[in-house]
Amino acid sequence: MSSPAIHCLFLLLLITISSVAADDTLTVYQALESYGFPIGLLPVGVTGYELDPSSGKFKAYLDGTCSFKVDDYELKYKSTISGVITKNRIRNLKGISVKVLILWLNISEVIRDDDELEFSVGIASANFAVDNFEECPQCGCGFDCVNGERKGVKLSLNRFVSSLVD
Ligand SMILES: *[C@@H]1O[C@H](CO)[C@@H](O)[C@H](O)[C@H]1NC(C)=O
Repeated sequence: MSSPAIHCLFLLLLITISSVAADDTLTVYQALESYGFPIGLLPVGVTGYELDPSSGKFKAYLDGTCSFKVDDYELKYKSTISGVITKNRIRNLKGISVKVLILWLNISEVIRDDDELEFSVGIASANFAVDNFEECPQCGCGFDCVNGERKGVKLSLNRFVSSLVD
């Protein structure tokens, strides 16, 4: 390796010493999968992420805040989601909240247990089948538009837009 290359490497190490830049060959969704989680934990449109593989500390960035409804729940994502991810477990989760009845509660932990995902909001937790998260939800629309249950203008527009982006 030439010395400028070593110099660059050293700089890179210094810059990323506390938050190792994610291996950019993996998308954030593939990274989730490598820890045993389905891609649908994060909505479509994550613009970047950082992951320190040694500690599992991560940050994922969205274009802005994101919210959508899933059945009786309303979910809200902040533009920065952070936490500590290890195999089958995400703890210290920050940035995702769920509206239960009239209360907004922070989802602090997600555990993969076989075919189920357990979401913890501190005082309570709820289990959902992993199958529900095979697709990424879309901001403002949720899972329904992915499943094609909403056959309105929104869906065809989204399909149209994504075909342009591809
Ligand atoms: C949820 O977390 C935010 C910080 O991310 C905090 O300001 C808010 O008070 C928390 N809400 C609850 C209900 O704990």
